[in-house]
Amino acid sequence: MREQLLQKFGEIFGDTDGAKVYFAPGRVNLIGEHTDYNGGHVFPCALTIGTYGVARKRQDRKLRFYSVNFERLGVIESDLDSLKPEKEAGWTNYPKGVLWAFGEKGMQVTNGMDLLLFGNIPNGSGLSSSASVEVLTGSILRDMYGFSVDNQQLALIGQYSENRFNGVNCGIMDQFACAMGRADNAIFLDTATMVFEYAPIHLEGAKLVISCSNKKRGLGDSKYNERRSECETALAELQKVVDIRTLGDLDEERFEEYKDAIKDAVRVRRARHAVYENQRTVKAVAALKANDIAEFGRLMNASHVSLRDDYEVTGIELDTLVEQAWKVEGVIGSRMTGAGFGGCTVSIVKDSAIEAFQEQVGKAYLEKIGYAADFYVVEIGDGPVIL
Ligand code: GLA
Repeated sequence: MREQLLQKFGEIFGDTDGAKVYFAPGRVNLIGEHTDYNGGHVFPCALTIGTYGVARKRQDRKLRFYSVNFERLGVIESDLDSLKPEKEAGWTNYPKGVLWAFGEKGMQVTNGMDLLLFGNIPNGSGLSSSASVEVLTGSILRDMYGFSVDNQQLALIGQYSENRFNGVNCGIMDQFACAMGRADNAIFLDTATMVFEYAPIHLEGAKLVISCSNKKRGLGDSKYNERRSECETALAELQKVVDIRTLGDLDEERFEEYKDAIKDAVRVRRARHAVYENQRTVKAVAALKANDIAEFGRLMNASHVSLRDDYEVTGIELDTLVEQAWKVEGVIGSRMTGAGFGGCTVSIVKDSAIEAFQEQVGKAYLEKIGYAADFYVVEIGDGPVIL
């Protein structure tokens, strides 16, 4: 891969002098969805698939971007003095956002760069292609300028750029998972305190299978911000009757005790998801530690039901994938992953059932939705690296 990408870089930008190759992973979240901006827990892991980047520093302040995934766009030019989000700039808004964010954090990027990207995760499908690009860009800048930022800070800068430059009010989960990934481990992160621990994932006789709906998120970003503000309103209503800082401070019992303070039935459901999902995540990690993978799977299934009925972020494509997966013998658990509104599901599938899974789910999906889903048997990988 390294050699191929260098060669491509040479073709596009003339030569490869001074170019280096980098990689940052995508991520899949196993459980703990829409909890990260509610002070709850998440349990994602980095993948061995993600985004590759070939980069070199320039002498001037020009930026030249090229993506192997969007070849038809050709080379997109910009410069360090006009770093602002532009609709027509497409994917380049992500690296630009990080260049801007470094400056905001007091780390001046003085020179332009040539940057070629290639991603082997599907774009905009809930596997954090954007966080992967953000962490990748951050690790390139760190290497180019010797900035002393650790991976956790790279995650925060990535989130900052996404919030402030790209206008998506995302939580910290995606960038954290991409930056802090560790092979064969998921990350149990308390987003209220940023305390985290690695939990080994040994799926004896089973694998993680990602099913991609091929439904792009579309309106997802605005819906995402809408869910976020519904939760903020519900929190403010609850704070009138109970002393909490976030929805993650409540357990199921206390939520039921105080929920009448929320003056709208839809908001009650949104908050209920945030509270119950957080508790489910804590229980799921405990089950995993006790080697009770069946219980982990049941909690994954319950997570999907809550995202479907209370949080309403699934849609027919994700529901079809999950409901069909539940029918396949040998499926331990299955749920949507990421923001929702399209994108991917994650399933734990016994080795012996993987073929049947792809066949049965794939066929039913095509029949019902009218276009095909894609399947990826994935492995859990490390954070960003220089290749
Ligand atoms: C997106 C956001 C994350 C998180 C998930 C939902 O991936 O970027 O911060 O909120 O949705 O769990």
